[in-house]
Amino acid sequence: MMWGKIALNDGNSIPSIAFGTWRRGNGEKAVEIIKNALSAGFTHIDTAQAYKNETEAGEAIRSSGLKREVFITTKFSSGVDIETSIKNSCEFLGVDFVDLYLIHGLKHAKPDIPTIWKKMEAIKESGLAKYALSSHSRSIGVSNFAVEHLKTLLETAKIRPAVNQIMVHPQVMHIQAPVIEFCQQEGIVVAGYCPCFPLLDNPDGVVVTTAQQIAQRLGVKPEQVLFAWSKSKGVVVVTSSTKRERMEGYLSAGDIELSPEDIRAIDAAGLADPTELP
Ligand SMILES: NC(=O)c1ccc[n+]([C@@H]2O[C@H](COP(=O)([O-])OP(=O)(O)OC[C@H]3O[C@@H](n4cnc5c(N)ncnc54)[C@H](OP(=O)(O)O)[C@@H]3O)[C@@H](O)[C@H]2O)c1
Repeated sequence: MMWGKIALNDGNSIPSIAFGTWRRGNGEKAVEIIKNALSAGFTHIDTAQAYKNETEAGEAIRSSGLKREVFITTKFSSGVDIETSIKNSCEFLGVDFVDLYLIHGLKHAKPDIPTIWKKMEAIKESGLAKYALSSHSRSIGVSNFAVEHLKTLLETAKIRPAVNQIMVHPQVMHIQAPVIEFCQQEGIVVAGYCPCFPLLDNPDGVVVTTAQQIAQRLGVKPEQVLFAWSKSKGVVVVTSSTKRERMEGYLSAGDIELSPEDIRAIDAAGLADPTELP
């Protein structure tokens, strides 16, 4: 499984595929799905306060026996202040620190981007202190930030964001390609969520038809082709599933090498059938 890790600008590294807990619900059912993903081979769990299942994610990680071998991303998306918020997340997850803490979106960047980012920097710095007692995050970043928001942040940042998590699939590249390019120039890793969007939202569209043709030729599944396409853009793929077979397929997609022609064909299909961000 060739997903590997990607180096972050702060010296840490991030597994290049993540299993997300959005829409995975609560209780034993959610714990079982996340445990299933971990035993299939995922080593990166992507959660958020807004998903309201950090507790289930923590329980799945503990009962998998993997504990700190799992890279945990969570996001600031609650109404409480950020210091209380990271404490709550760590408590729910049953850990002293998370690996990556993101501002979930612009609406959480209150009162403004420079002020909230200063607080994020303090969360990272508290982990660097010799006797770090408080809940903290090893790396910090943002989510759903466009180029203008990143520029505002970078103007006053002492610590650069390690990651910007955004929607990435072929049909949004007319919007996201400049964001990916800017992030790459600035040393910010992009994590791309909703890689299967065309299969779910536009199954008869040209992106899916193109992915199906390539999949047939390579003897793989169309979703695996979309994953290989995302990987070719250098992004961390953030996905999810309720099914073991699909989870295994996602992981083995790390071995698929698309040809430059295949990548160009998917790029062109996405540009021919663009969609807006939600
Ligand atoms: N930062 C943000 O604002 C933000 C926003 C959205 C998501 N996220 C993160 O990204 C994660 C993944 O998002 P996502 O669930 O939208 O990812 P996704 O990988 O695009 O979609 C996963 C879904 O696709 C289905 N699927 C896969 N292949 C399929 C096929 N061939 N035919 C039909 N259905 C297929 C799976 O269904 P089965 O269950 O049947 O396998 C699964 O439920 C979330 O859990 C969350 O952690 C972050």
